[in-house]
Amino acid sequence: MSTNRPPTLKLRKFLFAALLILICVLIVHWLNEQNKPWIVPQEFKSLKNPLLPSESILSSARQIYADECAQCHGERGQGDGPEARTHTPLPADLTDAKRMATVTDGEIFYQITEGRRPMPSFKRRLTQDQRWQLVLLVRSFSQPSGQTNPSGNKQP
Ligand code: HEC
Repeated sequence: MSTNRPPTLKLRKFLFAALLILICVLIVHWLNEQNKPWIVPQEFKSLKNPLLPSESILSSARQIYADECAQCHGERGQGDGPEARTHTPLPADLTDAKRMATVTDGEIFYQITEGRRPMPSFKRRLTQDQRWQLVLLVRSFSQPSGQTNPSGNKQP
């Protein structure tokens, strides 16, 4: 008798539809996640950088940056590293002065510490001191002088 076939076919259709719905839900969820502002706890926002910028701190920060960040954020922080295009969302442009003026040092410290997909967390990879050094370097990217760019050059 044909009692066996129709149910499996129905079941397949049902599973197929369910799968499609699941994919749609995931896509919508993923799109939503993308443009969310970073939610930084208040205690981080108000943190002050314990370090003052100096040539030696910036040059050690540049070294860390070249090893850990430049592949995504680009040598000068423009978000154009060799790996950048493989990531969604794209790595932020750290040279955008308007954008960077809206974040505190504590927020940048938090972003480096916690990361957010696809950006990894550096809580364990880097010491607090190294993360604060990077905050100074990140700040320097959006400063107009250009003197503190890792390459020492102004943008073309
Ligand atoms: C795997 C690629 C990747 C690496 C490595 C990476 N980042 Fe990011 N970073 C991103 C992406 C992508 C974003 C945007 C994330 C978002 O908005 O959700 C981001 C955002 C940021 C932001 C926030 C800027 C803003 O306005 O949204 C800062 C600051 C930052 N990264 C600094 C660093 C530093 C410093 C390092 C190295 C210690 C680093 N990143 C390593 C991909 C990366």
